[in-house]
Amino acid sequence: MKQPVSGFSKKTKAEKIDWLASNYLQDNPSAIDILKKYWNEDAQLQQLHDDFIENTLSNYYLPFGIAPNFLINQKLYALPMVTEESSVVAAASNAAKFWLERGGFEAEVISTEKNGQIHFNFFGNEKDIEAFFEVVKPKLRNSIQSIEKNMKARGGGLLELSLVDKSHILEGYFHIHATFETLDAMGANFINSCLEQMATVFEEEAKSFEKFQKEKMYPEVVMSILSNYVPECLVRAQVSCRVDELTLKHHDGKQFAEKFVRAIEIAKTETRRAVTHNKGIMNGVDAVVLATGNDFRAVEAGVHAYAARNSYYGSLTHAKIEDGIFTFWIELPLAVGTVGGLTSLHPLTKLAFEILQKPDAKELMKIIAVAGLAQNFAAIRSLVTTGIQKGHMKMHLMNILNQLHATKAEKKVAMEFFIANPVSHSAVVDFLEKLRS
Ligand code: MEV
Repeated sequence: MKQPVSGFSKKTKAEKIDWLASNYLQDNPSAIDILKKYWNEDAQLQQLHDDFIENTLSNYYLPFGIAPNFLINQKLYALPMVTEESSVVAAASNAAKFWLERGGFEAEVISTEKNGQIHFNFFGNEKDIEAFFEVVKPKLRNSIQSIEKNMKARGGGLLELSLVDKSHILEGYFHIHATFETLDAMGANFINSCLEQMATVFEEEAKSFEKFQKEKMYPEVVMSILSNYVPECLVRAQVSCRVDELTLKHHDGKQFAEKFVRAIEIAKTETRRAVTHNKGIMNGVDAVVLATGNDFRAVEAGVHAYAARNSYYGSLTHAKIEDGIFTFWIELPLAVGTVGGLTSLHPLTKLAFEILQKPDAKELMKIIAVAGLAQNFAAIRSLVTTGIQKGHMKMHLMNILNQLHATKAEKKVAMEFFIANPVSHSAVVDFLEKLRS
C-alpha cells in the first residue's frame, strides 16, 4: 500500500530518487541507473535543467533535427524541429524542397494583439458598473505604469480596456477585456502582472464608489489571467504555382491539385477528418515551437479554439484552383516569443534562434506557420497519392529495428531490403529471424 509523502520538494535530488525507487520502482533494479544515465556531465548545465521545474530527477531527451531548404519570403531557412515522430522532419524537408523549386513560401503577419481578462462578479445594477468602469479605467491604466515601463519604451504595452457584460449567460458575470502589444515577448508574465495589478485597484476603488456604497453591492474579482485564445495575433502563409507544375512521377498535376483541394474541403466539412488534418499541421508547428522554447500547450489550445471559431471544428488550411493556379494557405493564431521564458536559457533553444538567423517574434510566427503548412502539404500529398503508411513505415523502420535490438550490420541489410519491400512489424520480425538463422 503506497503512502503519501510530505515535504517532498525539500528533499535532495538523491533522496527523491531513493524515495521513488523504493516506493514505485522496487521491481526495477536498473531504475536509478536509467535516471542517472540521462544526467548531464556538465554540472552547471544539469543545474540549469534542474532549476526549470520542481522535483527534477533526470532529463527527458527528444530528437532535435533540422529541415533545410525552406524558402520563406525569398529568404532561405533551415528549421530546427524537436519531435519524437519519425516522419515529421523528413516530410517537412520534402515539402520544403518541393516548394523551393516552385518559388517557395510567402508569409505575412496579419495582427499581433494579445489579450487577457479580469473576471468578476457583480449582482447590482448594470448601469452602476458601467459608470464605475468609466471612472476607474484611467486609474487602472495608471496603476500599471511601472510594470509597463520597459515594454512601453519599446513600443508595446496595454492597448485597450473594455467592460464586457456576460450576465445574460451567467448571472452576475462580467469581465474587463484588456488588449496588449507584447512585441517580441510571448507576454504571459507581463500580461498577468498587469491584470493582477489592475484587479487589485479595481476592487480597491470600488469600495469608495458612491453608487455601490448606496446599494451595498460591490464587484468581486474572481480571477485575472491572460487568454491563450489569440485570434487577433494572426499569421498567414501560402504557396502557389501553376497546376501543371504539380505533375508528379505517377500523377497528373491537374488531377493531383483537384484531389488535394477536395481533401481540404473534406477537412473543412467533417470534424473527424479536420482534427487529424490539423494534428498533422501541429506536427510541424509544435516541432518548431518546442525547438524555440515556446509554450506549445498555449499554441495548441489557441490554434484549436481558432479552428472551431465558426461554431464547428474545421481545417486550418485552405486550397483553391483559379485560372490554372493552385494556391494553398494557412491562417492561424500564434502567440510566440523570441525573448523571455526559455528562449535565452536553454542552450539548444539559443542555438535554434541562431539557426533561424535571430528572428523577431513576427518572423518566428511566419516560420512556424510555414512549418505547419509544409507539414500539411506533405501529409495531404501522401494521403491523396500513395497513402501515408508507405513513407511513414519506412521512417518507422529504425524504431522497429531498435525495438528488436538489431545490430548495426543487421540494420544496414534491413534498410536495403525494405527499400523495395513494404514495412510492417511482422515483416521486420520475419526478416531478422531469417537473417539471424
Ligand atoms: C500523422 O501524425 C499526421 C497525419 O495523420 C495528418 C493527416 O492525416 O493529415 C498524417
